[in-house]
This record gives sequence, structure tokens and C-alpha cells, in this order.
Amino acid sequence: MNITEHALEFIQKGHVVGLGTGRAATDFVRALGRRVKAGLRIRGVPTSQATADLAQQLGIPLTTLNEVERIDVTVDGADEVDPQLDLMKGLGGALVREKIVAAASERLVIVVGSEKLVPLLGTRGILPVEVVPFGLVFCRTQLLKLECDPSPRVTDGRLFQTDNGNHILDCKISVLTNPAELEQAIQAVPGVVGTGLFLGMAHTVLVQDGEEVEILERGSS
Ligand code: A5P
Repeated sequence: MNITEHALEFIQKGHVVGLGTGRAATDFVRALGRRVKAGLRIRGVPTSQATADLAQQLGIPLTTLNEVERIDVTVDGADEVDPQLDLMKGLGGALVREKIVAAASERLVIVVGSEKLVPLLGTRGILPVEVVPFGLVFCRTQLLKLECDPSPRVTDGRLFQTDNGNHILDCKISVLTNPAELEQAIQAVPGVVGTGLFLGMAHTVLVQDGEEVEILERGSS
């Protein structure tokens, strides 16, 4: 069984399924699309326009978070996973919707390669922070005071715009010994919409290590 098939094991008939963003999530959405084509009845809540477009092409019925009471299972990727299953996400720019969908989910299943496992969050050195355009420079100045080195994300020569119409400050950071403290401090800056720190949110992490898939459960170690 490959890692996507492992993720599919969490999905049952009638589920509302959160659909993540990025390469791992895309592989999952494609596999889910094949199951839907074969008759599985679910509804998806996409975390980005890119994922919504893909799901629509694949014939996956979609709904929104404003139309359902809760999400049964969300499957998404991550950029870093620490031993407590806390995460760093957002290199794909969908962090705010991903975090809302994750928070609304009964179960958050994360799909990663073993290269994403880190001893401490921050190992890979970048924390994305979404900010409203009006406060871009102000937020950058405030984040500089929090041991972050923020740079506005630029793609194709233009400021990157999220699906929410906001910008991303990619913050260079060192390893985080207290990610909750940094999360609280960044969230307290007016203009910050959300950070890529997903603390205490993942229930299950599926790790592809060569041919093997390891299943990590929160609180089981
Ligand atoms: C999207 O905003 C991100 O949070 C992705 O989930 C994360 O960057 C992992 O993406 P990949 O699966 O493409 O590595």
C-alpha cells in the first residue's frame, strides 16, 4: 500500500473531507478523485483555489466550511514535522485556509516524506506569515523585533498574493525551542492573519521512508 492509499483508509462514505494544498495533498486529491469516480460519496472542502480547481476537474463534489458543521478528516502535507507532531506549513502559500480547515477537522492526517521530520521546528529556517497588504511594512518591522528576519514573498517579480488577497512574509528563523511563545507573539501583531506554525493540530502523520510508510499518532510515543 502506498502512502496515498494509507491516507485514503481514513476516508469513509459520507465524510466531509478537507483537501490540503501542495504536492502531497495533490497526490491525495487525485487518488480520492479515482475513488469518487468508482462510486465513493464524499464532499470536499478545498484549502486553496488550486485544489478546488483540481477537485472540480476530477469530479469531486465540493462544499465550503460555511455550509458544513464540521470536517471529518483533512489530508494535507507539511514542510516540517517535529517529534510531538507539531508542524511548519505554508511554503505553498495556503497556510491560513489550511489552518482553519485543520482546526475544523475531527482528524488531521499529514502526509510527508521522511526528509520533513525535524528534531525542532525551524530546522529548515523559514516560517511563512500571512499579513494584510495594508500592514505589510508595519508587520515586517514588528516581526524583525521577534528574532525573525522577514522578507515579502515575491513570485514572477510581483508580491505574492494569497487566495485571501494578502501577502506572505517569509521569516528566516533559527530552531524554535518554544514555538508556542513565538506563535503567540507573532499573532499579537495587528495585521498578521496567520502563521505557518500548526501546534497541537495533527492527529496522524504518515511518513514515506523509502518503500515503507510509518504511521505516527499524536501522544503515542
Ligand atoms: C501549502 O500552503 C503548504 O502548507 C503545503 O502543505 C506544504 O508546503 C507541503 O507541501 P508539499 O507537499 O508540496 O511539500
